[in-house]
Amino acid sequence: MFHHVAPFAGDPILSLNEAFQKDPRSNKVNLSIGIYFDEQARLPALDAVHQAELRMAAANQPKPYLPMEGAANFRSAVQALILGDGHEAIASHRVATIQAVGSSGGLKVGAEFIKQWFPTSGVWVSDPTWDNHRAMFESAGIPVHTYPYYDAATGGVRFAAMLDTLRSLPAHSVVLLHACCHNPTGTDLTNAQWLELVPLLKERQLIPYLDLAYQGFGEGIAQDAFAARALADAGVSFFIANSFSKSMSVYGERCGALSVVCPDAQQAALVLGQLQFTVRRSYSSPPIHGGQIVAQVLTDPALRASWEQDLAAMRDRILAMRVQLHAALVKLLPGHDFGYLLTQRGMFSYTGLSAAQVDRLREEQAIYLVRSGRICISGLNAGNVDVVAAAIVQVL
Ligand code: LMR
Repeated sequence: MFHHVAPFAGDPILSLNEAFQKDPRSNKVNLSIGIYFDEQARLPALDAVHQAELRMAAANQPKPYLPMEGAANFRSAVQALILGDGHEAIASHRVATIQAVGSSGGLKVGAEFIKQWFPTSGVWVSDPTWDNHRAMFESAGIPVHTYPYYDAATGGVRFAAMLDTLRSLPAHSVVLLHACCHNPTGTDLTNAQWLELVPLLKERQLIPYLDLAYQGFGEGIAQDAFAARALADAGVSFFIANSFSKSMSVYGERCGALSVVCPDAQQAALVLGQLQFTVRRSYSSPPIHGGQIVAQVLTDPALRASWEQDLAAMRDRILAMRVQLHAALVKLLPGHDFGYLLTQRGMFSYTGLSAAQVDRLREEQAIYLVRSGRICISGLNAGNVDVVAAAIVQVL
């Protein structure tokens, strides 16, 4: 019956992470998947999340189906986190938000909406982008193209070339943008560049689609939402998928959202209705548990303060590891420019290592990176950073 089914080649990130789990070598180092590990290479369990769960367990509430769009307290907390409390777009009810199965689920529901209501639109993603973006939009039937982004020579952004390409796109083209902590390069637009980009997107009637998976890992919670707030302030309609997997360390709860900022409340109601319809015909409604953890952490002042403190500590540790890896590499190879490690932000940097060099690191040293050369800095700690630096220099 199933001989004709094509074998799955595996996922460049998730399958690699599974291979790491199975690797019996005790000195192995996981710098592959975008997961925050602490100094002891453990997945942190945040106290705010634990407290929220204790409260939920004590309340012993029944577990009805949530509405198709998810829980109201979660959805409003998400809007405030992204746009800032009391933003005009929220007060005017022109934001349609659904609770999603991770930000991946949100991205996909948004992609299906675009396919249905903007059937001739293509999507443009940064070159390079997260390994799953292309597959996600193509499988929704949307043609995927790239715009210039990463400048391998400088570790910066090819901003002029990016603008040139975006300027040439037909109206209603979708432009996928990383709101912060660009995945896989760690190279973000500056606030000044966002402020140059926003009017272009508006004038050309393009549809920005922001991916905000790492809010709080770049410069801070509000700072990392700069792009979203600049678009909303400028009256641009846009999509934004956001995640709590990393920021609250609740990966397996699959907790994220999709928001569509619309011109007015009437259009937001239409959009929300179609998002509900897509959810119903895909998975009916989202799960309760993770969303309620997030809603409590965001809205209870004590839990919120505890979470913000933990998130700042995660951000600071990543920055410290950037500094330590840079110092170790420069010491071993003084002539080589590793400055990109210090300027890039978030969990990732682009090392420039080839797939063959990455393979050598994995096979010979049990050090796992994605084959694009992306390194996940949060997998580093004081105990492995020198070993990793020495191994990188050996394959360079
Ligand atoms: C990553 O890029 O490693 C993370 O976003 C995890 C994933 O789902 O790929």
